[in-house]
Order: sequence, then structure tokens, then C-alpha cells
Amino acid sequence: MKVLLVGDGARENALADALANSPKGYRVFAVSSYVNPGIKEAVERTGGTYYIGKPTDPESVRQVIKAVNPDFGVIGPEDPLFNGVADEFRKEGIPVVGASKNCSTIEKSKVWMRELMWKYGIPGRLRFRAFSSVEEAAEFIKEYGGSVAVKPAEQVGGKGVKVVADLQAYLSKEKRIALSKGVSAIGSYAKGSVKIIIEEKVDGPEYTLHVLSDGNVTLPLPLAQDYKHAYLHSIGPETGGMGSISGPGKLLPFITDEEYERSYDIVRRTIQAIEDTFKEKYVGVISGQMMLTGLWGPTIIEYYSRLGDPEASAIIPRIKSDFGEVLELTATGHLAKAKLEVEEAPSVVRAVAPRGYPLNKEMASNKRIWLDLPKMRELGCKVYFGSVALEGNSLVTKGSRALELVAVQPFEEADKTLNKCFSLVSSEIPLIYRRDIGITIAEQVEKAEIVRFTYKNREARGLLGVSADWSPQGGLW
Ligand code: GLY
Repeated sequence: MKVLLVGDGARENALADALANSPKGYRVFAVSSYVNPGIKEAVERTGGTYYIGKPTDPESVRQVIKAVNPDFGVIGPEDPLFNGVADEFRKEGIPVVGASKNCSTIEKSKVWMRELMWKYGIPGRLRFRAFSSVEEAAEFIKEYGGSVAVKPAEQVGGKGVKVVADLQAYLSKEKRIALSKGVSAIGSYAKGSVKIIIEEKVDGPEYTLHVLSDGNVTLPLPLAQDYKHAYLHSIGPETGGMGSISGPGKLLPFITDEEYERSYDIVRRTIQAIEDTFKEKYVGVISGQMMLTGLWGPTIIEYYSRLGDPEASAIIPRIKSDFGEVLELTATGHLAKAKLEVEEAPSVVRAVAPRGYPLNKEMASNKRIWLDLPKMRELGCKVYFGSVALEGNSLVTKGSRALELVAVQPFEEADKTLNKCFSLVSSEIPLIYRRDIGITIAEQVEKAEIVRFTYKNREARGLLGVSADWSPQGGLW
């Protein structure tokens, strides 16, 4: 069987590997915007063809679909979904793992997502307000008097571009200028006049639940946690994710089985609400970017209409059953037949990015990078190639996270393995690598316990999800 994979990055390298390693013997074809060495290896090993094109452009992908005539497709990133690439596969009669343009609105528009959750009374929803100008938003914040999170209303294209701050910060002149810039950055993406969304601010440990859906049946994957900030101790700008953890088992050390089930219920209800709204099946991946909060317990911060990156790199290597086949069953509507066996051992992923990422793409681009791949594998490390192109015999950075190093081992052991592997990577530019990913478990367990005490207490008093406005004005939401 032939499978066509769309996308370029480390998540797509992990997907290509899973498909190439399947006992079903898939021939892997791919379309990327540059030559990713990991995807190239999977394609060549299985006798497929690697196309360099525009994965975000439906017409460019359609030409590859015509040339390959695959049995099914798998789409990795969000932009092809937003642009209707999944719809293009289906128009050609090819089943695909990928949300339709309509269904991917759950990721593209935060306002639409929040409205949907309120309309359907889905637990884990936050109060929000949408605004078309900074001035209006600032006025609301001033009157409200509590802490809020301020974000662009639509997905900005660049990962991790979001504005989150509290009231005081946003009333300062500098921050308001920064926010205006955030607003102009989303100008070309935002439809209509809604540009800013303000949400009530919550706090607690974050985690991600990915769920596969074939339009009838859903299948939840093991949890993962993304480390968003660029530098050690979670400081610095937000990135697409500098690393992630998953496990042990299907959980994380700070999330209980009951919380996993509640999170799954939230995501399942959201899929149902999307399908009811568009009268369309949701076929693909949806991921709840969740937080354990005192307000609700499991709470939705945002949704993705795809696998997260680097979350996928933490989850896929832990799946013992044939994940390639699970993808085929998702695309073709037979997910009920899927088996999902997961390693008990957890995994840790640490990304390697060139200095300059995420704020100075030019600085982080076109730098050579070297690694001793056989030795890294010997040490027990998997390497997924991300934003790095094979140019001749050289690996050249493309401005984002170049590599994702993965160890499927107990957290402390993984720390040692990954540090040894990282010492086998060099570049003509200094590299960013967070050594604390996977070693902050104890403090997250402690934070979760405090939050759990609060939400359980609220629940016992029938106050789950009920926000108490302390400001004298109250009732503004
Ligand atoms: N890890 C964040 C993302 O996939 O966008």
C-alpha cells in the first residue's frame, strides 16, 4: 500500500518512521518544502518518492496526489489543514488522517473554539471576551480588575506566538505597544474584526491529550507535556516547544487516571460539537492543550487539529503496537479495529535549536550542523530531524528547532542519555538545548496536588467551573 505524508518537521519524521517500520510494508511517499534527512531515509527505505513542493498549498499537494495515487494520506502540520489540503485528498477519493478545513477551525480560531464550548456546555471552558482593538481590550481589563490572559484571536501561523500577561503588565505603555504589534502580526490571518481574545487567567500544570477520530470511533493516545519556553527554568520567549515528556503508561506523573478520563470526555464532547456544527465527520487528530486548574480540574487552554510537535516525538516511540496501521485505520474509518499498546517506560524529548530561535529567524538559518548519528543510536537515543535540510552532504538549519533527541527511559536515565547524545551535536552557531526537560517532575506533582485539592473541594460544594468575581464591579463577563 502507498501512503502520502504531508509536512517537513520532526513530527513528520516520527510519522514517516512509524509508517516505514510498520509490518504492513507501506511504501512511504512524502511532500515537504525541503529535504528532511529523516523523512528521506524513510521514503528511500520503503521504495517511495520524495517530492519537494508546497505542503501548505492544496494545488501543489493535489499534483503530488495525482502522481502518487496513494491508498491513504497523513497530514502533519496545521497550515495545510487550514488551507484545505485534507479536503483535496478527499475530493480525489483518498482517505486521509487530517481534519477538514471546517473542522480545523477548532485550532484556527480561539473565539470560535470558546463559543463552541459554551454553546455545548462542555466542561473545562473558560470565560472570554473578543475585541477588535487594543483600546477596547485595555478598557475591559481596566474595568474588570482581575487577572486575564490576552491572546491573538486566531492562530498566527508562527508557533508559540501568543501574548499572555496579567492586568498590570498590559496597562503599562510598553506592553500595550507590544500587544499592538501582536495584533498587527495577526492582521492578515484574522477574518472579520475580532483580533484579540481575553480569557480568565488560570494556573496549574499543563498537559496534552491527543485523540484520534475516524468519524465514528475515537482513540485517546498517552498524555504528553510540552515545555514551551526557550531557556532553562521555563524562562525566555515562548517557542513551538523545546521538548516534551510522556508517560509512564498512558498518564503523566502529575495526572490521575480519573483526570485522564475527564480530559478524554471533554475532547470527545468537543469532537461531537464540531461534527454537529458542520454536519461533517471529524477524521484526523485533535489535541486538547489542557491545564489542571482549581476552577475545573481538566481545563482547555486551546485545541490543535493535529499532533503537537514535539509532543508527537515523545508519544510515537512509546507505542509498541503498529502505529502506521493505526493511522491507516483512522483514515479509512476502521479505528474500532485498532490496538494501542503503550510502553510503561516514559520518554523525554529535548529539542536542539540554533541560537536566534525563536525571535531571530535569520540568525538561526543557514548554519551548518553536524552529529554522530550511529553513536547517538548506540547510546539509546532516537533522533528526529526538524527544521534542518540536507543540502549536498551538509545539514543546514532552516531557522527553527533543528533536531529532537528522544530517550524512552525512566526520567533520570533519560536525562543522562540525552546529555551524552547532545555532546555529539555541533554547529557553527551556539545551540539552545534545555537540560531541565524531564527533571522538573517533583515540583509539578506538588503543584498538581494543590490544584487538585482546590477543584475537588469546589466540586464537593457544587462550584466546579463557577468563577467568583471579586472585583467590586463584578459580572463583566
Ligand atoms: N507544541 C506546540 C505545537 O505543536 O504547536
